[in-house]
Amino acid sequence: MVGLPARGKSFISQKIRRYLSWLSVPTESFTQSSFRKKRAESLKFMDDELFDPLNEKGKKLRLLSHQDCMGAILNWFSNHQSGVAIYDGANITRDIRKKIKETLSSSDVQTLFLESYCDDESKVRANIQDINQTSPDYMDKTVEYTLADLKKKIRFYDSFYEPMNVEYEGDCTFIKVLNLSSEILINRIESYLQSRIVYYVMNLHVKPRYIWLSRHGESQYNLEGKIGGDADLSERGWKYARRLKDMAEKYIPNHGSLHVWTSTLTRTQQTASFLPYPKKTWKALDELDAGSCDGLTYEEIAERFPEDFKARDDNKFEYRYPGGESYRDVITRLEPIIMELENQENVLVITHQAVLRCIYAYFMNVHQEESPWMSIPLHTLIRLEIRAYDTLVTRIKADIPAVSTYKEKGTSKLGETRDNSKILAGDVISTGKS
Ligand code: G3H
Repeated sequence: MVGLPARGKSFISQKIRRYLSWLSVPTESFTQSSFRKKRAESLKFMDDELFDPLNEKGKKLRLLSHQDCMGAILNWFSNHQSGVAIYDGANITRDIRKKIKETLSSSDVQTLFLESYCDDESKVRANIQDINQTSPDYMDKTVEYTLADLKKKIRFYDSFYEPMNVEYEGDCTFIKVLNLSSEILINRIESYLQSRIVYYVMNLHVKPRYIWLSRHGESQYNLEGKIGGDADLSERGWKYARRLKDMAEKYIPNHGSLHVWTSTLTRTQQTASFLPYPKKTWKALDELDAGSCDGLTYEEIAERFPEDFKARDDNKFEYRYPGGESYRDVITRLEPIIMELENQENVLVITHQAVLRCIYAYFMNVHQEESPWMSIPLHTLIRLEIRAYDTLVTRIKADIPAVSTYKEKGTSKLGETRDNSKILAGDVISTGKS
């Protein structure tokens, strides 16, 4: 990363780390300031001295923390055959960038610089507010403190900032994000992974917003314990579809501009049928394809295909149904949905259990081994509040009874004996019994 403080570098780093990890690319982020803090503690260094341009000790401390950070990155690469290490720091001089590139290249690591350049004061101010509310460095400090501290750092760094440009660094691969995504410059993008990162950064949204998720209402297949298929809603499922309209009006603040996305399957479209908002149907939102097990109950699968049944329990993320899909396959086809969701505001996605687990895992950073086992109950509207440094979850229960479609590991019976819903963090709002 390259850029002055309060330019959204940590935000972009965290988003890229989450996106690439979700796509199963080993990714780790290394924050230079955490190395600096460790060094400062051990050297009993005062914060105030650090950004004083005339202070030699401060200069030394910054150099040491840079070396620590690079050391940790190289160490990480020595334990990973491939992957992405993000150096989340200012790296604002050409000299330091040259050194980074040379060091990494001698270890056979490609360098992509991502500069966040922002001279729009209102965006910098908004980012400082976000940092104050959500960054671990400032959460316990007042806005005034954060503002004064960051302004001091910005002034200091600005005195020797050399923004990236083709004239001086034409041989480097870089992405330059201007004013937090209103314009992007790219130079020497040479690999598929680099181009995915460019595309992702182009879609990034820094404004806090909500994304709304729901499973379809209970279906006839759900009542029979069957997976897959293209069944109609049950009577209770239709009740949820009607309730969803009221819930949208009550809980979605700007529902007048809401867009509803569904899969191509009947049960999601029926669930959306009372919602008076523009709708879009995505094949990519269809349920995980159970292949030759489509239309069977888990008990039937355990009886007819015992080896497959066990293999899926053993590694649910990777297991692919014969002629069907695995969770990994679902993630691959969901990538365009994630890109669109990053770009949009105010969308309600009505889809299926496995697909919602994958979408939720992306926004909440749930590990791939855990995500296929998450409990996402029927008849619940999920609100994701996307903020700069984290996502808050609220579950709004319609309180319309429905069967459980959850199967625990090691059994073919449906139902939850453990409270798996804890993985779905956040507050729960109950709309009252019906
Ligand atoms: O097969 C359809 C289910 O919604 C996916 O659930 O992965 O827990 O079996 P499962």
